[in-house]
Amino acid sequence: MKLTTILPGLAALCATTLAQTFTDCNPLNATCPPNTALGRSNYTIDFLQNEMNSKVWNWTAGSAQYGSDGAEFIISTRGDAPTVKSKFYIFFGTVEVIFRAAKGQGIVSSIVIQSDDLDEIDWEWIGGNDTHVQTNYFGKGNTTSYDRAEWVAVDSPLDEFHNYTTDWSKEKIDFYIDGNIVRTIKYEDANGGNNFPQTPSDVRLGIWAGGDKNNNNYTIEWAGGEVNYKDAPYTMYVKSLRITDAAAGQGTQYEYGDNSGSFDSIKILNNTAAIKLDGNDGESMVKRWQGLSETAKIAIGASVCGVALIAAIIFVFCCIKQRRAGKHERLLEDAKFEKDRAELLAFRAEMGRQRSEKLAMMQGAPTGQVHPSGIHSMNSGRGYQRY
Ligand SMILES: *[C@@H]1O[C@H](CO)[C@@H](O)[C@H](O)[C@H]1NC(C)=O
Ligand SMILES: *[C@@H]1O[C@H](CO)[C@@H](O)[C@H](O)[C@H]1NC(C)=O
Ligand SMILES: *[C@@H]1O[C@H](CO)[C@@H](O)[C@H](O)[C@H]1NC(C)=O
Ligand SMILES: *[C@@H]1O[C@H](CO)[C@@H](O)[C@H](O)[C@H]1NC(C)=O
Ligand SMILES: *[C@@H]1O[C@H](CO)[C@@H](O)[C@H](O)[C@H]1NC(C)=O
Ligand SMILES: *[C@@H]1O[C@H](CO)[C@@H](O)[C@H](O)[C@H]1NC(C)=O
Ligand SMILES: *[C@@H]1O[C@H](CO)[C@@H](O)[C@H](O)[C@H]1NC(C)=O
Ligand SMILES: *[C@@H]1O[C@H](CO)[C@@H](O)[C@H](O)[C@H]1NC(C)=O
Repeated sequence: MKLTTILPGLAALCATTLAQTFTDCNPLNATCPPNTALGRSNYTIDFLQNEMNSKVWNWTAGSAQYGSDGAEFIISTRGDAPTVKSKFYIFFGTVEVIFRAAKGQGIVSSIVIQSDDLDEIDWEWIGGNDTHVQTNYFGKGNTTSYDRAEWVAVDSPLDEFHNYTTDWSKEKIDFYIDGNIVRTIKYEDANGGNNFPQTPSDVRLGIWAGGDKNNNNYTIEWAGGEVNYKDAPYTMYVKSLRITDAAAGQGTQYEYGDNSGSFDSIKILNNTAAIKLDGNDGESMVKRWQGLSETAKIAIGASVCGVALIAAIIFVFCCIKQRRAGKHERLLEDAKFEKDRAELLAFRAEMGRQRSEKLAMMQGAPTGQVHPSGIHSMNSGRGYQRY
């Protein structure tokens, strides 16, 4: 990989890192940048075949491991709470998750569909409850009443995989378990529609210690009691995801037209390129690596050290440019971390074949890839943007 092919991406990289400071924005109070649309009628990712790519997924805490039961979200020690959200949004649609919740007192596993103005549809499992799952919803972040939660029966959610599907439209939300509707929320029944989730939403998966002793008593009680970290690890499993966007084919971004939080106010824009997906509908990292010849693999391995060095120089440059005190050290640390693992993560170089992918790599795209031995990597989650 040549230095000259990387440098043009430098300015863009720095701009990206800066722009992200302003990403979090509530459209009820402010004018926010548009949301990236999924825009496809179906997106699937099978975690026995593929790993989450950081161009599509944002780890807000921790990262996943991958094994024979799919993606693993693990609490190993106090403070762990691996959580990921999609970078794309759906404007109504379907979210199907083949899922097994984590077992353990005080441990909460969750699937959440959430918008920037805090519309929310939730599935939450309590690690000490092997008979029920809690379904819930919020509109515009209104939490004044907690009577929206409803527990539904399910057979051994902590021991067995089930198909938890949310079918969300303007009229209603249907919660399905293994093909059976277990709950329906109608628009008009959600405070006359005012509390009905109706704005473009991302998809989140996560595990957290609701029963951590520092949480308030209500939360600990709801989570089924205090977590005993001596019994860790606690693991939640996701075998696959299928996500559809009801507004598919209409554009690539969703924008709030005003501060009402109403679906009528959402504009669909088509001025940008569609998000490039991973998973079954994108390029399979595993297959791409496996398809390479041995010589190509060796060549990639050899070039990676050089890549890591250039990346290190770029981090320092961005760091100075941003003039953000305290970050310098962290960035250097990250660069060193990457360098140390350069051989193991040789596969990155393959991604580096295309310029856009080079850029993404420097931003942390390696998260969720497979290392050359074919063993799933430790999946660092240390994207450079995460500081
Ligand atoms: C990931 O999510 C966090 C929290 O919402 C946000 O601050 C950050 O900018 C996001 N990163 C990317 C690369 O989208
Ligand atoms: C944003 O607006 C909502 C609803 O109008 C309000 O409850 C919330 O406090 C506001 N948040 C901020 C940060 O101003
Ligand atoms: C998903 O989309 C692809 C093409 O975009 C199509 O071939 C396939 O049949 C779809 N699958 C389902 C389950 O809708
Ligand atoms: C599981 O949750 C249901 C619904 O809240 C409750 O009736 C049941 O007692 C709980 N089981 C345990 C073991 O806590
Ligand atoms: C919040 O929801 C409650 C009902 O759950 C409703 O009575 C109240 O008016 C809502 N608040 C706002 C600001 O919409
Ligand atoms: C999961 O359930 C949904 C809703 O019933 C169904 O459409 C879908 O085909 C199921 N998926 C699998 C993999 O069985
Ligand atoms: C929580 O419960 C503990 C023990 O039951 C009690 O000592 C403590 O005061 C409670 N804290 C709050 C905020 O209610
Ligand atoms: C959106 O833009 C793309 C690329 O310019 C175009 O192919 C597509 O037809 C447009 N879609 C709509 C709904 O206008």
